[in-house]
Parts: sequence; C-alpha cells; structure tokens
Amino acid sequence: MTDLSSPAPRALPDDIATALSRVASRLGSIGRDVLWYRDIPSTNDVAGRLADGGANEGALVLADMQTAGRGRLGRIWVSPPGAGIYASIVLRPGPSVVKLLTLAAGVAVAEGIATASGLEVELKWPNDVHCGGRKLAGILAERGSTHVVLGFGINVLRAVYPADVRVRATSIELELGRPVDRALVLSECLASLASRYRELGDGRADAVMSAWRRRAASMLGRRVEWDGPGVVQRGVAERVDDDGALIVRTESGPMRVISGEVRWVL
Ligand code: BTN
Repeated sequence: MTDLSSPAPRALPDDIATALSRVASRLGSIGRDVLWYRDIPSTNDVAGRLADGGANEGALVLADMQTAGRGRLGRIWVSPPGAGIYASIVLRPGPSVVKLLTLAAGVAVAEGIATASGLEVELKWPNDVHCGGRKLAGILAERGSTHVVLGFGINVLRAVYPADVRVRATSIELELGRPVDRALVLSECLASLASRYRELGDGRADAVMSAWRRRAASMLGRRVEWDGPGVVQRGVAERVDDDGALIVRTESGPMRVISGEVRWVL
C-alpha cells in the first residue's frame, strides 16, 4: 500500500504498535494496514487517495500532527503535534451500514475514551463527543464512489489552541487532571469501532442506537436552534429516529433534522 502524493510514512511509534497489537484480536480488518506520518495536511486526504487506489477495507492512516486538518461544515480541525489522535480509516460498507456509520463512530470514540481513560463523555447529535459542555472529539466521514473515509480527531493532551478553539474545546488530560496514554485511547477507540461496525453489518443497528441514546440522554429535552433555508428554526430536541435523524418539537410540529448542526440554547 503506497501513496506517492504524500510524504513517506514513518515507522509506527513503539507505544502505538504495542497498543494496537494488544487489541489485534478485536480489530477485525481495521488497522491490518497502517500508515503513520509525522505531519501531513489531513489523514482523510491520504486515506481517500489510498481508497481510490484500491486500499483494503480497514486501512488506517495516522498522523502525529495535521497541517490542514478538516472538521465538519468546512471548519478547521486544529491538530497540534503529539497532542491528539488524528486517524482515518478506509471502509467499504454496504448501503444499510452507511446511514448510521457516523453515529456508530461517535459511540465507538466515546466508548474508547471511557475505557482507556475512565472519562465519561457525552454525545451531541450527530456525533460530537463532549465533556462538561466542551468538545473533545469529532468525526468526519467522507464518501467516495465505493468507499467511506471515516476520520476522527480526539484532543488527548493539553496543548496550546487558538483562543476561539480554547473556549469551546477541551482535552481528556485537561478534564482528568492527569496524564493520559494516547496509544491506549487510540487502540480502544479502534477496537470499539470494529465492534460497532460489525454490529451494523450484522443488522444489529438497534444496539448501536441504544448505545448512542444512552450517551446522548442529557441532550434530549433541551432547546435547540439551527439554520433552516433562510430562517433560524427553534424547538426542543426530542429524540433520534432509527435513521439517525434528530426529531425536534417546534411550534409548527415535529421536524426532522438530517444534517448540519444544531446549537444548544441556554
Ligand atoms: C468535526 O468537525 O467534529 C470533525 C473533526 C474531524 C477531525 C479528524 S482528525 C483526522 C481526520 N482528518 C481530518 O482532516 N479530519 C479528521
């Protein structure tokens, strides 16, 4: 597996190699092929090129830092060196799996963080991982014609973030007030992702949705607003349906929000 348009991958750091080998029996195809970079613009870009070139399902791209990390909705994902997990996986899911893939990934990242560090985190629709009202991790799924690149970023260690990020973001280390093993967080997130992905493939979406609802419980019943076509819509977040859409009670009746972002109104 080569990617000639990126700098050459480096040897996988020992702590990450060891952590991945400890969970190898739980990973399925995820991480059978792994590329590690010191710095690249975006792991999603590299994984996308690999997927276009025929990379196997589960091929994993990791970087110590990203110089042009992307978030959802055209945002930047600040990716300082050594401080976070920047990971992208090539998946080739069937149509029934695709629609719930990002929710499953949110569950997996939340579970991986909790297992590896003991920090209990919450999910905010559709798949942001929060702690104490601040964002800790996010998922960016990008679809190609025959694949999905599933990228996730987790703020693990304290780092210097720009002021606008600092007010809305946190890290596992900041929340716990003690050092955290980045390699363990990565390996547990991947193991949980493999398990949740398998559940979707086996037609057990209900298990994924119940796990998602448990972790998002504090979000439901809260007032939200979002940008509708030419107008700001407001209502109360009621539930997430089986297709992953957010159902919001508004003055004009229930509305289904299928993409984008909702803002929490205090
Ligand atoms: C979000 O906006 O919440 C999604 C953030 C996704 C960030 C990750 S970091 C690894 C991968 N590469 C990217 O450029 N983005 C994703």
